[in-house]
Amino acid sequence: MRFNTIQYKKGRLTIIDQRMLPLKIRTIEADSIKDVYSCIQTLAVRGAPAIGVFAAYGLVIGVKKLKPAEKKYFFKQLFRIIDYLKSSRPTAVNLSWALDRMKNVACDNYAKKISTITGILLKEAKVIHREDKAQCEKIGAHGAKLIKNGDAILTHCNAGCLATTGSGTALAVIYKAKQQGKKINVYIDETRPLLQGARLSAWEMQQRGVDITLICDNMSGFIMKQGKVDKVIVGADRIARNGDTANKIGTYSLAVLAKAHNIPFYVAAPSSTFDFTLKNGREIPIEQRSQEEVKKIMNVYHAPKKVKAYNPAFDITPADYISAIITEKGVIERPCSRKLKRLNVKTLKR
Ligand code: MRU
Repeated sequence: MRFNTIQYKKGRLTIIDQRMLPLKIRTIEADSIKDVYSCIQTLAVRGAPAIGVFAAYGLVIGVKKLKPAEKKYFFKQLFRIIDYLKSSRPTAVNLSWALDRMKNVACDNYAKKISTITGILLKEAKVIHREDKAQCEKIGAHGAKLIKNGDAILTHCNAGCLATTGSGTALAVIYKAKQQGKKINVYIDETRPLLQGARLSAWEMQQRGVDITLICDNMSGFIMKQGKVDKVIVGADRIARNGDTANKIGTYSLAVLAKAHNIPFYVAAPSSTFDFTLKNGREIPIEQRSQEEVKKIMNVYHAPKKVKAYNPAFDITPADYISAIITEKGVIERPCSRKLKRLNVKTLKR
């Protein structure tokens, strides 16, 4: 089955609803700014690059609904919508990156008619979308060079087609290596609390014919010890100037385990995931989500309803634990501020 993570067609913005996958496969439409916010906040659409593309189109949906008004009022509303959407999820920088890009293009064209600015915004959203797809391909091609025939790879969460509008980041590397005829097998950990590994990565990789084995999150240390893992590859939600990386909660534990077992640990991400305004990982905001997500699995309580729970959605892996970062521009081994500077990632006006 081929699906569109995000589609914008004839003024309608639709997504595959990731909340109930793979049990329910359905497409939903975001028809207002409230819908756009809620789709991001509830993870109907998720994954750092995907929420950036979605928010860019979402802004166009919101702007189109504004009543005809004076330029000043239009811009006030535009900035208000941008701030509102940015607040939906704080960790993945791709969201604010895409919205800042949209804001800048609107401001650069301030003198034009409102209808022209709206058209320019839609064009920019389409460019962001096209770039995302193309970057996935490049990440796949660069990363596949690191994969050997016969490798066993461990991945976490979902950094695949569902998290982007192309073939993914971490999973793009796997898809490309497979396409090149390399025989690989992939361990996916479940990724509690919301099971993006079990529900989403397992679903999309199975459709692409990858040899996969699902494990619980607490099994990764043991399978590393057993010598079953040659490489770990994960995605990223934000990478600071020194290479410290935020990704789905549990990534840090995998990195520590990989180091202890001498297993290369790779992060795959496009330039839009780098935040060079931040010196290191301590400055990355970590999204705290509802306690209910920890107490439930697929909306059913498995813990006492009133027990206290803690639910940080992401953690930070220090650069020292990362063997290389795979980007659309190439592979940066042993990342540090000096090497990342060479990537020449532009910091947008905020
Ligand atoms: O909370 P999620 O499901 O949006 O978290 C997603 C991740 O942590 C991914 O690994 C990351 O966004 C990279 S996606 C290419």
